[in-house]
Amino acid sequence: MSTIESLQAVELLDSRGNPTVETTVRLRSGVEGSFLVPSGASVGAEEALELRDSDSPRYLGKGVQGVVRNIEQTISPVLCDLKEVDQEVLDQTLIELDGTERKTHLGANATLSVSGAFARAQANEQRIPLYQHLANWSNTADIRMPVPMMNVLNGGAHANNNIDVQEFMLVPVGMSDIASAVRCGAEIFQRLKELLSDDGHSTAVGDEGGFAPNLDSDRAALDFLIEAIERAGYQPGPDVVLALDCAATEFFESNSYVLKGQKKTLSGEQFIAYLQSLVRDYPIKSIEDGLAENDWTSWKSLTEKLGDDVQLVGDDIFVTNTKFLQRGIENGVANAILVKLNQIGTLTETLDVMRLAWSVGYNTVVSHRSGDTEDSFIADLAVGTGAGQIKTGSMSRSERISKYNQLLRMEAQVGHMKYCGLEEILIHRERDHTCGASSA
Ligand code: PGA
Ligand code: ZN
Repeated sequence: MSTIESLQAVELLDSRGNPTVETTVRLRSGVEGSFLVPSGASVGAEEALELRDSDSPRYLGKGVQGVVRNIEQTISPVLCDLKEVDQEVLDQTLIELDGTERKTHLGANATLSVSGAFARAQANEQRIPLYQHLANWSNTADIRMPVPMMNVLNGGAHANNNIDVQEFMLVPVGMSDIASAVRCGAEIFQRLKELLSDDGHSTAVGDEGGFAPNLDSDRAALDFLIEAIERAGYQPGPDVVLALDCAATEFFESNSYVLKGQKKTLSGEQFIAYLQSLVRDYPIKSIEDGLAENDWTSWKSLTEKLGDDVQLVGDDIFVTNTKFLQRGIENGVANAILVKLNQIGTLTETLDVMRLAWSVGYNTVVSHRSGDTEDSFIADLAVGTGAGQIKTGSMSRSERISKYNQLLRMEAQVGHMKYCGLEEILIHRERDHTCGASSA
């Protein structure tokens, strides 16, 4: 329990140069904590609202001065009036003060920056690392390093090229610790750069720090990844598997999947067959948003067809919300959930959705946003909750590297943290939320 003395909010910028908000919570003890909010581009329709000053010409309508006012003038007086607060009470107060389903009154960027800043302030007050505080708060006995998904090739809404799939990711499952995993990803990233350059492609990077070459097809992208893995001295499969984020909502039009790169329009079933063919030909072990957020019928079919062998991660379809995850569980949709703090807007609601996922054996992948910041909170969140996996971009751009660096720091400070590799992305029908949990 802590007592809040003041809240201060400031309009800063994210990695795309758009405004975002940082809140600093000051506790009565004099200790402070801050949190800087990220921002998405391929945003799920049911996400909590990222409030912006859309009526103002400042920053082309993307300013967050209204959010700053909501924090300092509406939220602050209420929180400072409370005698003693813990994370649940703080988050519940924010939820009630907002009073809407999607946090449209105060903005999820307002509530999250306060929620995250309070957690940091509490960790600082107790003089313990953030991940340790989050582990205590979430009652996590099994602290461990997440397996990273490294998005080294960008397409879709994150790049100006012909590739339909938004993210092609390396997952270094065969490593024994995060230092080797990061090194593996970085070496492959540099080899990939050489290969693309030798072939006359651009090596400029997209929003998440991956390359965004103008390739003809998804298969061409996958071939480059396999070659880069081998050229770096690793074995595709045992050392490194691949993951995709199709972000399929982005190319779902009039009930069809419109693939601009391939100049094809496919039905849900045809797109599933296409994904099956990719899984057959490449060591792809995880597919996120393989189908659109409102195409629940095809999602169920995809899960029936691929769900025993491949991790199927729901991002836009679940939007880190227990209501949608519950619907997915009841309908046999997906077997994992992407966890983005700003899709829901408080830490407590985020932990609730993770707990629901674990209770039915769904995997959890803590994630950044495509517009992110230097804040490395999610690295501590992934470790402290024992989430198992983290998706935090490529091996370039400081807003991505800040998370990898934070993971490396944690491992260095502790000596060694459990890293479970492939085990994390296997499909867990029942799970006791530890490495080596019983799997089907
Ligand atoms: P976003 O992309 O942050 O633009 O939503 C990331 C993702 O789709 O996972
Ligand atoms: Zn996604």
